[in-house]
Amino acid sequence: AATTRYEAEQATRSMAVVESNHVGFTGSAFVNFDNTSGSSVAFAVDAAVAGNHDLVLRYANGTAVDRPLRIEVNGTVVTAALPFPGTGAWTTWATRRTTAALVKGRNTIRAVSTTADGGPNLDSLVVDNGVAAPAPAD
Ligand code: GCU
Repeated sequence: AATTRYEAEQATRSMAVVESNHVGFTGSAFVNFDNTSGSSVAFAVDAAVAGNHDLVLRYANGTAVDRPLRIEVNGTVVTAALPFPGTGAWTTWATRRTTAALVKGRNTIRAVSTTADGGPNLDSLVVDNGVAAPAPAD
């Protein structure tokens, strides 16, 4: 399915800052969550169809400790603690996937840190269009 990338540096932040000191990010920067529970990034995501969409978060975690994020869609928790384990270095980026039901039109997808360590460094959110690819023609 087609996908749209939303850059974290363009999202709405609470207790989080835009930085670019670790290479390998897409766009112009990434977001560094403050090292405190409750720091967050909120993406404004437009869905053409209602229903389940894949959400792929690109991140780096240069520590050895998991930094789980709570994922909320339009104020409802859809994933209580999505794991973001260490990637080996702050310049090594990886992805985590989850799925959530979106409404047609504008949605707010919020990623909230759940431990005193805060979140990982967050690069982007990629959202699929919620439409299964058609089977190939005979
Ligand atoms: C380091 C690193 C930051 C990271 C921070 C953290 O300071 O340079 O990019 O966000 O650790 O532990 O959250």
